[in-house]
Formats: sequence, C-alpha cells, structure tokens
Amino acid sequence: MSGIDEKIKLNAALTEQALELYCKKGDGAMGTLFEAEAYSLLGGGKRIRPFIVNEVAKALGGSIDVSMPFAAALEMIHTYSLIHDDLPCMDDDDMRRGKPTNHVVYGYSTALLAGDALLTKAFLTAAENPYATSEMRTEAVRLIADAAGECGMIGGQVIDLSGESRKLEFCELLELHRLKTGALIKCAARLGALCAGYFPDSEQSKAAAEYAEGIGLAFQVIDDILDATASAEEIGKSVGGDAEHNKTTFLTYYSVEEAAKYAKELTDKAVEKISEWENSDTLCELAEYLLNRKY
Ligand code: IPE
Ligand code: IPE
Ligand code: MG
Ligand code: MG
Ligand code: MG
Repeated sequence: MSGIDEKIKLNAALTEQALELYCKKGDGAMGTLFEAEAYSLLGGGKRIRPFIVNEVAKALGGSIDVSMPFAAALEMIHTYSLIHDDLPCMDDDDMRRGKPTNHVVYGYSTALLAGDALLTKAFLTAAENPYATSEMRTEAVRLIADAAGECGMIGGQVIDLSGESRKLEFCELLELHRLKTGALIKCAARLGALCAGYFPDSEQSKAAAEYAEGIGLAFQVIDDILDATASAEEIGKSVGGDAEHNKTTFLTYYSVEEAAKYAKELTDKAVEKISEWENSDTLCELAEYLLNRKY
C-alpha cells in the first residue's frame, strides 16, 4: 500500500472515531432516528472532505484537535446530502457505501428526517468546537452554511435535476459540478486553513481554495466516469443512474478518455496552486490519488 493509501485509511479511522462521539442512542421513535443517522454516518465512506480539512490545517501549521470537529461537521453535511440524493424523488438509488440506502432500510420519512438531523447537527458540532476560538467557530459556521446552501451544494443539486429534462450547456455543466461537489470540497480546504489561523481573505486560504476548486471539479468528473464504467460492487453505490435519468454529465460532452484527460489537467493545475507551500506533499499526493481512484 502506498503512503497516501495509508494516510487516507488512518484519517478515515480517526474521523470515524470522532463521528461516533456525536452519535446518540435512545429508545422509541427517537432511537430509530438516531439509528438511521448512525447507519449512514458510520462504517463507510472515504472521508475525503475530513482528510482535506485535517491535512490543509496540518500543512499550514494547525492542529488536528482544532480541525477534527469541523471535519466531522462537514462529513455530517456530506452524509446528509447523500441520504437525500439517494431518495426516490432525487436519484432513486438503493445502494450507498456498500449497503442498502437509508430509505431502503428505514423508509422515506425517517431517511428524510435523518438527513435533516445530520444537517442541523453539523452546525451544532461546528459551533461547539471546544478547541477553536469563537472567531474561528463563527467563520466555520458561515463557511459551511454558504457551501451547503442555495448558492452551494443545493444550488448544484437543482441544476443537476434540471439537467434530466434538457441538455445543459457546457458552461452550465461546469457550474453544476462546481457547486454540487466543488462547494463542499472548497469549504473543506478553507476550514483547514481557518484552523491554522488563516481566514478566507488570507493568501494561504485563497491558495487552498484554488487547489480545492481544481480537485473538486476533477472529483465530480471522475464520479461521472465511474457511474458509467464501474460496477456497483467496485464503487459501493448504484451505477448507471446518470444515463438512466438522462442526466447531463461530462460524458454528454466528452468520451471517457477525454473526460479523464480533462480531470488530469485540472489536477495538475490544482497542485500548482499549493506547490510553494513547504508541506504540500500529502495534498499533492491526494490530488493524484483522487484522479486515479477506482471507487
Ligand atoms: C460521493 O462522494 C458523492 C459525490 C459528491 C460525487 P464520495 O465519493 O466522497 O462518497 P463517500 O463519502 O466516499 O461515500
Ligand atoms: C451528488 O452527486 C452529490 C451530492 C450528494 C451533493 P451524484 O448524484 O453524482 O453522487 P452519487 O454518484 O450519487 O454519489
Ligand atoms: Mg445526484
Ligand atoms: Mg446520486
Ligand atoms: Mg454520481
């Protein structure tokens, strides 16, 4: 196993431990809600967004104590977005992170509410980060709200759905990817910089954000390729849904080879943005790893 594989595995294990601490147990109806939240939040996922939060923080001199609660908050947002993304009124998928999707196990209404609960819990988690200053906590909440909301991930999701009934222009597709997937990945990088004391208007945070914009766009290009070329067993989630729903994706415009080449160009440019940092090796390796990922 290469160095970056090990680092990603270690980060996933640490993130999982942190997330477990935020999961509640209970009886009755609320017990079922807690169980549904934990079902999607624990035991799966590459934890790429937490990795970026933690590694950008580390590269800029911050500590993981400060970054992990923000990383956990962002993973809660990401997990909620997946639960809702899989619902029948959205992509209607029945497999996620190697298991049946949340609504298949718990039913539509509980899945919807488990997503809502994780979304809300994310803000509580960020606002209560015990290791961050109050200025950092306020900025983290603002960054997460902006990235997850109407002009971020949700905006991307509505453009994605509109791309089922008409072919999106190429520039609209870029905007869709930038928002749907890119916004949370960029937020991860900005949160990491924040943990090292660099607020979004600093040069360090801007460079981290530009790096993340590139790898974020490449990430969704690769996701489009995997949906068309991988098996559900390989990637642990339903495949073929993009074509089935007639979605506009990168493969609407590019062949698989052209899309892969485009993702490589984005990755190379992204890496340049942080190449002057003293400790950018792990983030550069991550960019390469995501480009070549098979799941
Ligand atoms: C899947 O994200 C959804 C997209 C934004 C493409 P990931 O590929 O990071 O999913 P997990 O968290 O590893 O399951
Ligand atoms: C959804 O993109 C990303 C979000 C949940 C915001 P996709 O619909 O392509 O993600 P997958 O392929 O289902 O993971
Ligand atoms: Mg979707
Ligand atoms: Mg989907
Ligand atoms: Mg997809």
